[in-house]
Amino acid sequence: MKRRVAVVSGGIGGLGTAICIDLAQAGCAVVALDLPRAEAVDRFAVATAGLDIGFQPLDVTDTDACSDCVQSIQASHGALDILVNAAGITRDTTLRKMERAQWDAVLEVNLGGVFNLCQPAIEGMVARGFGRIVNISSVNGQTGQFGQANYSAAKAGMHGFTMALAREVARKGVTVNSISPGYCETAMVRAMPDDIRAGIVDKVPVGRLGRPEEIARVVRFLAAEDAGFITGANIPVNGGLYMSF
Ligand code: CAA
Repeated sequence: MKRRVAVVSGGIGGLGTAICIDLAQAGCAVVALDLPRAEAVDRFAVATAGLDIGFQPLDVTDTDACSDCVQSIQASHGALDILVNAAGITRDTTLRKMERAQWDAVLEVNLGGVFNLCQPAIEGMVARGFGRIVNISSVNGQTGQFGQANYSAAKAGMHGFTMALAREVARKGVTVNSISPGYCETAMVRAMPDDIRAGIVDKVPVGRLGRPEEIARVVRFLAAEDAGFITGANIPVNGGLYMSF
């Protein structure tokens, strides 16, 4: 199989690290993009030791930096075949208390970041006739969540973006899909109030939080060479928390 170049935004985060490791184990050269938080960078280096995974600092809200980053990866690695948008933040609070800055921050990272990386990456994918974009959305984009008007709007928006871009590049060998994880064992979920998290886990039919590896294996599935007929899809991975068809 051709050695594919994969780029993961939010790459040193809870889901991002598992996604980087899985793609590297599947034979990709991987570049993790994230804010250079010293502690997280160190943890990531330990977790990914020995694998073909590099780290490049990037703020996904910086449009010019995203464009420069994509160009430099294409120059150094020869291509950018797989783009996983996993950069995401929460600023949970009820709408009545939400400040405009909390709305903007979540929309700019979670949705603006997808635009900022997809736009420069898509040209090369189309020119090379192959590309896989996987956007990490959320169950809360499908259902809405109390205290997450900003996050739910951004995550639902990611899937609208996914379907629109999927149509634009479907004839060019490029697929665009989203995954909607449920509550997983990540710092983001650990940061929730304990009682609220416990109440949610009680409602998950599988009866536990998801493991980051359980999201990563779906990314690998969508990123595979032979996944070319799956596009514009959303794959829920939520332990049954939200079932739909
Ligand atoms: N459903 C219904 N009512 C709720 C509620 C809920 N989930 N949460 C709080 N309330 C009630 C409160 O009990 C309170 O009632 P009273 O006024 O009668 O006392 C009322 O709503 C208003 O509460 P507050 O405005 O004071 O809000 P709060 O500060 O208590 O809590 C919150 C707000 C912190 C956002 C809290 O609701 C919360 O943590 N919600 C969950 C958010 C969540 O799921 N985040 C997920 C983060 S991880 C992630 O996002 C990953 C992923 O993709 C899955």
